[in-house]
Amino acid sequence: MTTLITNIKELLQVRDTNVTIVKGDDMKVLPILKNAYVMIEHDTIVEFGPMEDCEDLEADKIIDASGKIVLPTWCDSHTHIVYAGDRTQEFVDRINGLSYEDIANRGGGILNSAEQLQNASEDTLYEQASKRLTEVINLGTGAIEIKSGYGLTVAAELKMLRVIKRLKKEFPVLIKPTLLAAHAIPKDYKNNKEGFIDLVVNEMIPKVAEGHLAEYIDVFCEKGYFDLEDTKRVLEAAVTHRLIPKIHVNQFNAFGGVALAVKYNALSVDHLEELNSEDISVLKDSKTMPVALPSCSYFLSIPYTPGRDIIDAGLPLALATDYNPGSTPSGNMNFVVSTACIKMKLTPEEAINAATINGAYAMGISNQYGSICRGKKANLIITKSIPSYYHLPYAFGDNLIETVIINGKVF
Ligand code: NIG
Ligand code: FE
Repeated sequence: MTTLITNIKELLQVRDTNVTIVKGDDMKVLPILKNAYVMIEHDTIVEFGPMEDCEDLEADKIIDASGKIVLPTWCDSHTHIVYAGDRTQEFVDRINGLSYEDIANRGGGILNSAEQLQNASEDTLYEQASKRLTEVINLGTGAIEIKSGYGLTVAAELKMLRVIKRLKKEFPVLIKPTLLAAHAIPKDYKNNKEGFIDLVVNEMIPKVAEGHLAEYIDVFCEKGYFDLEDTKRVLEAAVTHRLIPKIHVNQFNAFGGVALAVKYNALSVDHLEELNSEDISVLKDSKTMPVALPSCSYFLSIPYTPGRDIIDAGLPLALATDYNPGSTPSGNMNFVVSTACIKMKLTPEEAINAATINGAYAMGISNQYGSICRGKKANLIITKSIPSYYHLPYAFGDNLIETVIINGKVF
């Protein structure tokens, strides 16, 4: 099966070589072809170029993209889309003056979601998550990382990871599963955090690894949750079981979590709303991707990750949604890209690089996803007719996507 997309007004993120990460000033460059075509064979991009080179090409299916923009699908490297129910009451409580921390301290927050998740059947969880996943694919996401972390018991974490495995089987998008082993201290371990880390290290991680249910390990490294010592214990166990770290760090406080994550060769460090100069210099000597989650800052009214400083320091930056019931009940990468431009002062080119190639890097898949490159997966967004790609971030809140192609097929 071959598909030819013709008359593309602007084809974004075209790469002749298989670029797998973009950093610093290079993030300002988004290679574009005007009046272009893309040829797809089965699930792979086999050729692209200017329309004048396309005259003799034939295909089983032709999509005319006159007036439209084509770009790689978004790579959302940080989500928690498997959860039960919602936290709308906490949303209203925050409007009425409580903080995210106040809510957590009175036993709400992650513990609220954990209780709902523990009481939900695997089928219910799957149904709710598959609805969210369908929605975000229609919003242009073609590869996604999904974390556990609302289980907080071995059984419930395994249940979450099995739901992720089922999503992987049923959906055409690429899904990367992460064991978010230490997300909050469960009620039963309120005064025994050590005991909970013992459980994570001695039971949860080995069982998950044995079942091949996750590739990555995550910890919420934060004051009031898990400190450097706890995080270190989890990461040590993860190394033994070949789980690669992707860590929640510096959301509310900077206290050395970035350096610890880098020491354990984390693939990414995510959140970074509070970032100091030591964190930046540690990242400079690393292969770890800093990941910003601007929808979370928006929803919680907390500072935005200093993305401008990160890029100006020569570092790469990825953007992701953080889709979850507490801090970011939205999986819209288009809003993330807009918000990164509007609030973090990224240029449209930087934001699109951050949401495609660098997002793919933060999931370990950038040799296959994140750019228009011969041999890469045919995961493409075709927009409605719009004047230029600037409209993607500019027209915030609008859905400018007309078609999403996953593995060479219209979703
Ligand atoms: O990335 N910060 C930790 N975890 C999630 C939110 C968890 C929740 O409130 O349910 C986050 O923001
Ligand atoms: Fe998160």
